[in-house]
Amino acid sequence: MSRVKEEIARRRTFGIVSHPDAGKTTLTEKLLLFGGAIQEAGAVKNNKIKKTATSDFMEIERQRGISVATSVMGFEYRGKKINILDTPGHQDFAEDTYRTLTAVDSVIVVIDVAKGVEAQTEKLVEVCRMRNTPIIVFINKLDREGRDAFDLLDEVETKLGLKISPLSWPIGMGQDFQGVYNMWESNLKLFTEVSKVKIADAIAIKDVNDPQINKLVGDKAAETLREEVELLDGVYDDFDPENYRKGEISPVFFGSALNNFGVEELLNCFVEIAPPPQPKDADGRLVRPEENLFSGFIFKIHANMDPKHRDRLAFMKIVSGVFERNTNYIHHRIGKNIKFSSPTAFMASKKSIVDTAYPGDIVGLHDTGSFRIGDTLTSGEVLEFKGIPSFSPEHFRFVNNADPLKAKQLNKGVDQLMDEGVAQLFTLESNQRKIIGTVGALQYEVIQYRLEHEYGAKCSYENYSAYKACWIESHDAAQLEEFSKLKYRYLARDKFNRLVFLADSSFSLSMAQQKFDKIKFHFKSEF
Ligand code: G4P
Repeated sequence: MSRVKEEIARRRTFGIVSHPDAGKTTLTEKLLLFGGAIQEAGAVKNNKIKKTATSDFMEIERQRGISVATSVMGFEYRGKKINILDTPGHQDFAEDTYRTLTAVDSVIVVIDVAKGVEAQTEKLVEVCRMRNTPIIVFINKLDREGRDAFDLLDEVETKLGLKISPLSWPIGMGQDFQGVYNMWESNLKLFTEVSKVKIADAIAIKDVNDPQINKLVGDKAAETLREEVELLDGVYDDFDPENYRKGEISPVFFGSALNNFGVEELLNCFVEIAPPPQPKDADGRLVRPEENLFSGFIFKIHANMDPKHRDRLAFMKIVSGVFERNTNYIHHRIGKNIKFSSPTAFMASKKSIVDTAYPGDIVGLHDTGSFRIGDTLTSGEVLEFKGIPSFSPEHFRFVNNADPLKAKQLNKGVDQLMDEGVAQLFTLESNQRKIIGTVGALQYEVIQYRLEHEYGAKCSYENYSAYKACWIESHDAAQLEEFSKLKYRYLARDKFNRLVFLADSSFSLSMAQQKFDKIKFHFKSEF
């Protein structure tokens, strides 16, 4: 195998998703500890946007600034180069998370054993399933009293729509939690005291009938384990790594991230089964990582909050070929050649200048405003990667200029913030008024603050009552015309000039769907 092929084959780029508080940050940290990427717990945690900070958005922005460092955490483990892409847990930044998911090759979903499948997890898994992203499920906080493991698995299957195959099984829970029987590695690991550094080694077990188990956990727990494992065998399919990589079956692990329990098993299995960098669809053509020519796309843009340093950092996932420093690449949307003198790579929480990067890697590019989310860079071929859709926002407000002398600055600021993906802009067809749509209300404060401090513009908001934004399309010109006449007041264009229906209520949406059966109403911008 050529060196480039070897480099590609050993990369594993993934994201951890969960509902806030399920334990994503704790798990990330423990994985980094195993990878030797950090020396002590707390390094990642401190960068987390705390939910207590919701009323103080400046604090959130400050932390967002710091979190550039943890946007990508790379480390080496068992010969693999692992890149964990951080996803903001804060619900108001969910759109950021959706986009980050376009840059991962697989995902680990963390579920709190007591809370089960929560709303945010459902949404995020839905986004993964749209692309058949392989998913591993980690059920966390087994040291606490939680739900019955079988019920929980049922919920994972029904609510998340995942076909699962448990690869480990808990022995007891909460007070009675004794450890985990690992079917993947055929061993048993006992849960002892909270120990953040070293935990007991796993004990090799022949199978669930091994009498050793009785000695280790007692007769009663051993019997229960045997009954439960037998039940599992009857209910769930055997695990097939090939099917997992196709996104058809998800292995499940149990553990406690806080106690560093079950994390090593998860990581060991992950490096064995998780997929290397995957091909990506560029409008009909699948671009493969092994291709000679370089290509990559921007999935995240991070602005510097310091008004003295207005540069931004654009995060690019490399899809094919080799990326090199100081080499000209074509930025297709603006039709220009660009080269980068100081592209950054991320190892744990450190940044460093990188000369060469391979498919699967994430490179940080300094940007003075020429990038937009979804932009493609290549070494020549005209490509446009698909798959960074916008979802219908939850909140809508008119944005008004509050300082008539600064109209230009306001427009520029709004445009750039939208390019960064902070929110979505819709322009009403009827009167050209601008509406900002966001996932969380917090974004409005962030936008107002940034417009003032970074662009010297002032804005005010006015409520716009809309239920959902639907991107519409139809092959039936007559029906589209009729719809446009009837719903003229509710029609807008997004920043790519696509037609959007801002439905004012769920009732009016379903009426429209019934009446105009030749029109398709999409809840995301890519279809
Ligand atoms: P998130 O990133 O998904 O939002 O979750 P995070 O890791 O911050 O964990 C949320 C809370 O759950 C934290 O407690 C964390 O310590 C706790 N936690 C994580 N894993 C486990 C586990 O295996 N067992 C138990 N019992 N708790 C766990 P906190 O009190 O909110 O924060 P902190 O004060 O500990 O930082």
